[in-house]
Amino acid sequence: MSKQVQVVYHSGYGHTERQAKAIAEGIDAEDGVGATLVPVDELADTEAPAWAMLDSADAIVMGGPTYMGSVSAALKQFMEASSARWMEQRWAGKLAAGFTTSGSQNGDKQNTLLQILTFAAQHGMLWINLNQLPGNNSSSGSVEDPNRLGASLGAMAQANIDEGPDVAPPAADLETARRFGTHIAACVKRWH
Ligand SMILES: Cc1cc2nc3c(=O)[nH]c(=O)nc-3n(C[C@H](O)[C@H](O)[C@H](O)COP(=O)(O)O)c2cc1C
Repeated sequence: MSKQVQVVYHSGYGHTERQAKAIAEGIDAEDGVGATLVPVDELADTEAPAWAMLDSADAIVMGGPTYMGSVSAALKQFMEASSARWMEQRWAGKLAAGFTTSGSQNGDKQNTLLQILTFAAQHGMLWINLNQLPGNNSSSGSVEDPNRLGASLGAMAQANIDEGPDVAPPAADLETARRFGTHIAACVKRWH
């Protein structure tokens, strides 16, 4: 049976959804591992079947937009709703990873990833880093480089605030997300 990765995400306007879908594509590209996209709305009811899918997943990848320098309220609601699982440490030993999209180049995205990482640590989960060298950081670099935003903790994307999710985030950030997904899938196979 293939290994299962649940990609839990919030997206107010569709930009982070594109990033989440690219991560799922990358996961699905690895043989023997499958991704399921889980919009946080599906987890609003703590009795919803999507929670049981998280319990049985081999890894949970979590992400959302950076709003006011932190995770969005909808993603935070999911985090707090998971507290019954935390009490039992039901997700301990499960793999975890994080991602976020913001409007600004920096936009305080690091704080969002740190919040998701801290959340995973509270649950006793094992964190998967981005595992990509920074791009766009030398005279021969370009904004088209994968990991152009130079993240390490997880996947970052930037979407111009006057562009819709049909064109933003740009291809480089979606490629970063795809590669991250494939790395997550490889980690799942190695760990399990
Ligand atoms: C309430 C709100 C707060 C925001 N705060 C930030 C911020 O702190 N830093 C930033 O760079 N962009 C910020 N943005 C811009 C969003 O991060 C950006 O538009 C992102 O692409 C939205 O992703 P989404 O379409 O998945 O919701 C904010 C947007 C909103 C609506």
